[in-house]
Amino acid sequence: MTSLFDPIQVGDLELPNRILMAPLTRNRAVAGLKPGPLQVEYYQQRAGAGLIITEATQISPMGQGYLDTPGIYSTEQVAAWRQVTDAVHAAGGRIFVQLWHVGRISHSSLLPGGARPVSSTNQRPNARTFAAEGFVDVSPPRALRDAEIPGLIEDYRHAARSALDAGFDGVEVHGANNYLLEQFLRDSVNDRDGPYGGSIENRARLVVEIMQAIAVEIGASRTGLRLSPMTTFNDTPRDSDPQALFEHLVSQLDPLGLAYVHVIQGETGGPRYPEDAARPFDYAALKACFSGCWMLNNGYGPDDAPRALAAGEADLIAFGRPFISNPDLVNRLRAGAPLAPPNPETFYGGGAEGYTDYPTLETR
Ligand code: PHB
Repeated sequence: MTSLFDPIQVGDLELPNRILMAPLTRNRAVAGLKPGPLQVEYYQQRAGAGLIITEATQISPMGQGYLDTPGIYSTEQVAAWRQVTDAVHAAGGRIFVQLWHVGRISHSSLLPGGARPVSSTNQRPNARTFAAEGFVDVSPPRALRDAEIPGLIEDYRHAARSALDAGFDGVEVHGANNYLLEQFLRDSVNDRDGPYGGSIENRARLVVEIMQAIAVEIGASRTGLRLSPMTTFNDTPRDSDPQALFEHLVSQLDPLGLAYVHVIQGETGGPRYPEDAARPFDYAALKACFSGCWMLNNGYGPDDAPRALAAGEADLIAFGRPFISNPDLVNRLRAGAPLAPPNPETFYGGGAEGYTDYPTLETR
């Protein structure tokens, strides 16, 4: 029976365990939207993870949607991330960067020249974001023109190249939580005509083209993808047929040979099987469309994570909040030790408090 502590090959990497650190937005980037010494310490403390996936990191200035989130497009950002990856590798760890474009979940005050956010659509959701002035309604977006899509794909390619220059072991493309890529996937948002709107094939086209471009640039074995077929996070209704949409997408991507697919089950930070869903999502059927490593996430703990692995539902489990407050999560799970609860008041923004000051078992 597979256990959390069994090694596994993910792309070119041999992971010593199946306990992954999920991407976690912490809004502590320093001037220039890059990591500083605090991030170096934070990620190094968590190097016991089978693989760290960094906080969501924008691929371009237009990809930003919140205050003080880091980017991976400028040479200064690459140099700053190099400090992080060197520290994680020195501590024996492995680290991917999550490549993010928020699309319409943004505010003009965060964008170059006060620009409107870009999306698949001109429709604004009721969502809010956090900008310099505090919580604000997101700004009205504008639909990208088809002629702008090659430039967007180029931004992803450039960010993936920058990630390798910064010493990352690979990248995870953020296709979840109703940010830009899911704004193209779902028919509840995408109201376009043309090659990127309408049919499932057309709505999936952008993600497929981005994954292909990154695979050519850095290798599919260094590239993962995160999806969230059922979440209504960011005030976004579900697709009319999520099962068909996501099975098509994953089937299209399977021949590329990606390192993994990472699925948030159900509502992000909420129930894995939401009761208001018209039909429960069949995650096993989605997994059957893919021959690479399969990662699940959302609220897993010491009891149900081993069960999901043993049942063959997943090869890897990503832990979010437990990794905030337990830098030595792998050791604690192995020891059957109690997990420290995180303090939500220090999740977003601030300094060392609630970030690098959670003790390990030994230092408590
Ligand atoms: C957030 O900033 O709250 C956030 C960012 C990325 C996610 C989810 C939440 O995927």
